[in-house]
Amino acid sequence: MSLLPIKELLASTTTGSTVTVKGWVRTKRESKNAIFIAINDGSTIHTIQTVAEPGRISEDVLRLVTTGACVAVTGTLVESQGSGQKVEVQAAEIHVYGPADPEQYPLQPKRHSLEFLREIAHLRPRTNTFGAVLRIRHTLAYAIHKYFNDNGFFYLHTPIITASDAEGAGEMFRVTTLDLNHLPRTDEGAIDFRQDFFGRETNLTVSGQLEGELGAMALSKIYTFGPTFRAENSNTTRHLAEFWMIEPEMAFYELEDNMNLAEDFVKYVIRYALDQAADDLAFLDQRLKEEEKTKKKEEQSELGLLEKLRFVVDNDFVRITYTEAIDILLQSKPHKKGQFQYPVEWGIDLQSEHERFLVEKHFKKPVILTNYPKAIKAFYMKQNEASETEKGPTVRAMDVLFPGIGEIIGGSQREDDFEKLLARVREVGIEPESLWWYLQTRQFGSAPHAGFGLGFERLVLFVTGMGNIRDVIPFPRTPKSADF
Ligand code: 4AD
Ligand code: MG
Repeated sequence: MSLLPIKELLASTTTGSTVTVKGWVRTKRESKNAIFIAINDGSTIHTIQTVAEPGRISEDVLRLVTTGACVAVTGTLVESQGSGQKVEVQAAEIHVYGPADPEQYPLQPKRHSLEFLREIAHLRPRTNTFGAVLRIRHTLAYAIHKYFNDNGFFYLHTPIITASDAEGAGEMFRVTTLDLNHLPRTDEGAIDFRQDFFGRETNLTVSGQLEGELGAMALSKIYTFGPTFRAENSNTTRHLAEFWMIEPEMAFYELEDNMNLAEDFVKYVIRYALDQAADDLAFLDQRLKEEEKTKKKEEQSELGLLEKLRFVVDNDFVRITYTEAIDILLQSKPHKKGQFQYPVEWGIDLQSEHERFLVEKHFKKPVILTNYPKAIKAFYMKQNEASETEKGPTVRAMDVLFPGIGEIIGGSQREDDFEKLLARVREVGIEPESLWWYLQTRQFGSAPHAGFGLGFERLVLFVTGMGNIRDVIPFPRTPKSADF
């Protein structure tokens, strides 16, 4: 027996050989002299056609061969008589590993809504769409590791359980082994976390950055790629409570270097997907085209998925400051006509409608915004010298905004001056003792450094053209939803 993945069998030219195909039945079609069974094993979006002559395979076995059943088919690889595939398998023997009762199996060979598929997340990887998304997700993850490895970065494993709030936004999930029904109390009546597992309050991390910075102050260039958790109650198509983040951190990089890296990196991984996941992307491109046809003309997007990906890879990102962006927004039609839901003025945190206006309407390109107001950004960002052209103090932040997504990357040059960082830590109400280890890197061999975080699911969302972030992670975690 030689078991080859269907992807390889379909590319094979050794007709006449005996092969075994193992996978799940997608469709079964019966004609007078033959039964056509299409099988998929997830190695590719394509199915292999196996042909069974009635009489040669027992009726009892054939009855169990229905959509969703898991089978092994052994037979001869032959040139296909039909169109649509080069080779097919003339079945000599079929073994059914696991039947799938057609009365109950929820996936039928037709298009199901993405909402319905979310309710059966344990089976949705068996659909064309999710198979394609999951393979592309893998390809992107691999490209990310390859990019950093090839460019001299070290993969640093930062902790998942932490006692600090890296972003200072207070959106953390608590980790505890205390009995919630019988909480130990101090004499003052507060919860006594000294009795908790770690002897202190701990949470799931919102970012590996702070520990990443410690790595960069020794290895120069590191990156993290791990799960992060945010208990923000945003029920949007762009937010997950559990998502994966890639965070490079580089000693001796300033904001400009950080932007150059972010742009080069994102373009590389998209180009890699275009090269290595062509079949799956072609399928998703077609899928999106059909979906667009159902929309009103003015709501249809100008570019198809593949065109959009090539466009991003082939063009320079626009780079402007926050202050310039605010000026553009103030001059914009939607602002003047009162069409933005949120007000625009220097100092606001840009809303997704503002970001999307800049990227999709004004520049029609990815945009990197820099030098945000200090007041709306995290404590660790490097403070700019006071400037006459700015309306208030700014920090060396950079956000990369993508069409259809909004913010895909957030990053900055870091404050490397001990006194300034300490003052800022106090200013935002963080107890300096709780970050003593972080602050010490500014006392012992401090160096200019910078880094950023790419939301992995937002990248997968962009590359696959899917509309909802719940559909690009195998098992989404969102408010009120943690099934599977
Ligand atoms: O902008 P954020 O909050 O930046 C950080 O966490 C920094 N520590 C990164 C760094 O400089 N090392 O998050 C980074 C990215 C966002 O741009 C977005 O793509 C993604 O993470 N992100 C989310 N993705 C899905 N669901 C959420 N709830 C997300 N929150 C942030
Ligand atoms: Mg951000």
